[in-house]
Amino acid sequence: MTAFDALKQNSLSFQLLPVSIRELFFLSETPCDIFGMSDGLYKLILRKHSFVNAQVLKDLIAKNHSTIFVHQDMRNNLIELQQNNLRSVTRSLSIGDPIEKGRKQIGLLTLNMSYLYSDPTNDDTLNLQYQSVKNLCAFLYERPEIHEKLYKEFIKQKHHFIFAQPLLASLFLIGVLKQSHVYSFKEVESLFITSYFKDIGMSVIPLEKYDQTTLSEDDTELLRSHPHTSIQILQGRIKLSPAHLAVIENHHMFSLLTNDLHVPDTSKLDEKSVRMISGFETMIVSITDVIAAMITPRPYRSATSLFDSLDLVKALISDDYPTEFRLIVNYFKSVFFRNN
Ligand SMILES: [Fe+2]
Repeated sequence: MTAFDALKQNSLSFQLLPVSIRELFFLSETPCDIFGMSDGLYKLILRKHSFVNAQVLKDLIAKNHSTIFVHQDMRNNLIELQQNNLRSVTRSLSIGDPIEKGRKQIGLLTLNMSYLYSDPTNDDTLNLQYQSVKNLCAFLYERPEIHEKLYKEFIKQKHHFIFAQPLLASLFLIGVLKQSHVYSFKEVESLFITSYFKDIGMSVIPLEKYDQTTLSEDDTELLRSHPHTSIQILQGRIKLSPAHLAVIENHHMFSLLTNDLHVPDTSKLDEKSVRMISGFETMIVSITDVIAAMITPRPYRSATSLFDSLDLVKALISDDYPTEFRLIVNYFKSVFFRNN
């Protein structure tokens, strides 16, 4: 390397910020120069206004460019662009092919969730997320026939489990609640929003730490208090009643957060602390969250099948909530295992 090249690399290291390549998903061209890292050196891999599609991005991932680099001055432009993308898909959700629209909306929503986790006090990002989640709820409520397909499409997008889990849990929740025929649309909407935002308190721990097998004592403590932190972040900022905030506060009624995030340890089922009495709403929000946690892989364990996750649900609730357990099983049977 020449002295000039070395200087250039050094200067790039001060100017570039790493971002996930998924920030280029759903764009048709690059809004700025995109750099990659090869053999420890920054390289321009896509010039500004380069054409991008799924194949281009797939090829980059195959070349180890899952993390890309953008100039720090362009960072906010990229976020703004994707947020406008989300805004426009959200507004036109009911127009066009529902699977394609839904797939794009949940992908962009999950991307915006990552922006929200990195800046949870940003009102614009939170409001955009709230409005988009509300529209998504109405869209899904009207179209139970596309839930299975959207679930499969979403799994394919391979989002980080921290961002994927609330979406999956809420998708299951809307189906179960609708199938119960007990709740009005407005009630389903409030519970959907509750379920989607319940883990926002997890944003207090940097994302990379969730990829570690074990957390430090301090981080474990922060993680344990995430339901309460979620309330602190959301209270007064989005429309949720005290009853819905209480659902958030208690959404780990089955989980001790010891062995695996959000997945309960069934060997401790006899302990009184995990057998607390709770309303149907909290139970169902917790259970769909447990299922979503199990079917999303962790760096230290692979994903459980949807079918196997229902076995755990059986162990958790079939004694105390037999009717609700049947409702959940019937829902998954009729929607997700129809063809098996
Ligand atoms: Fe949680």
